[in-house]
Amino acid sequence: MIFIEDKHELKEELAEWRHARDHVAIVPTMGNLHPGHVSLVDVAKEHAERVVVTVFVNPTQFGEGEDFETYPRTFDKDTRRLKTVAADVLFAPSVETVYPFGIESATAVTVPGLTENFCGSFRPGHFDGVTTVVARLFALVRPDVAVFGQKDYQQQLVIRRMVEDLNLPVTIITAATIREDDGLAMSSRNVYLSDDEREKAPALYQALADVERQLRDGVGDFDALERQASNELERAGFLPEYVAVRRAADLGPAEEACRELVVLAAANLGQARLIDNVLVKL
Ligand code: PAJ
Repeated sequence: MIFIEDKHELKEELAEWRHARDHVAIVPTMGNLHPGHVSLVDVAKEHAERVVVTVFVNPTQFGEGEDFETYPRTFDKDTRRLKTVAADVLFAPSVETVYPFGIESATAVTVPGLTENFCGSFRPGHFDGVTTVVARLFALVRPDVAVFGQKDYQQQLVIRRMVEDLNLPVTIITAATIREDDGLAMSSRNVYLSDDEREKAPALYQALADVERQLRDGVGDFDALERQASNELERAGFLPEYVAVRRAADLGPAEEACRELVVLAAANLGQARLIDNVLVKL
């Protein structure tokens, strides 16, 4: 695996791959890599001969008072972890490389509609930062395939919409959520949990799994299911932001006739804001 910071060096490497007619996959990350990220690299390798993992803590997707300064930066550990997997390049550009005109003067990409609810309403501007940086990473790497995690369900939908709307020549793959043994979805932000909170944290997935079970049993009162899960989270010590049962394709309202639903939740536990979701194919 080669470590590259410079965009010209990246371009040279990519040119060699293109010359060999190799396909290129990108796995964008913000680092502090865990087995969830590694699984995306494995999925990427199934779709392309070459895999570029990007590590970039993107300032434009953090709101005021969020954890941009304290976001865990574990570069040496990340490099060691990536050496054991199928990544060809670790691309870790500087802020200047990604935003040559500066953050304030950067051309932005906004996906309306889909970004306005759920995480979008609790983190204003967050998805604009995500689409803006992902579009830039796509332009730098020019991948054939890009792999994102189902863990950030709304994010992968927003990126799919951006790609479709702008006709970007990249295929988006969504890879399954990797969990700890007790069900907690792996996340770079789990390091913010105290020992006591870590014990409580699996209640988020349990609440979603309870909703899933009831949907499969034919329960159709979505509002009641949402309220019940939210109460369950409060009892477990969380401060829920939202629990929602929605149409999986576009987060539109769930209807009895929907064959594919998603149950999404975000909740705060101490300093950590945790999100999770389950897909329910009926
Ligand atoms: P980050 O939180 O580092 O996540 C990078 C990728 O890993 C995302 O596609 C995310 O959905 C996926 N991922 C995280 N936890 C996962 C898990 N437990 N199982 C499977 N996949 C998981 O998401 C971002 O970074 C940023 O917003 C980014 C897309 C890189 C843009 O800055």
